[in-house]
Amino acid sequence: MTIEICIGSSCYVKGSDKVVLLVKEILVNRGLDAKVELKGSFCMNACTQGIGVKIDGKMIRKHACIDGPEIDSHIIDWDKFLPRFGQFRAQEAASRAAHGLG
Ligand code: FES
Repeated sequence: MTIEICIGSSCYVKGSDKVVLLVKEILVNRGLDAKVELKGSFCMNACTQGIGVKIDGKMIRKHACIDGPEIDSHIIDWDKFLPRFGQFRAQEAASRAAHGLG
């Protein structure tokens, strides 16, 4: 199985980098990282429909947080996880400025 997550500018601004990290973590924690190929992709022409996600080449339409996998918040190390939200602030600001959203 291959999961592709768009890291194009529109999806990046919506937090697709964090989705990639979470999916990677879930795959590792469940021992699926050797069976599932996780790839980044540029624009999938789904910018208006949330973050672009394809599974085995099939676009997952209307993807939203509520459609994602259940995450047991009790197993997340929040002290490690929460600082990740700020790690790309400079790149996010540059992306917003580049797209006139700044
Ligand atoms: S930038 Fe992700 S679908 Fe367009």
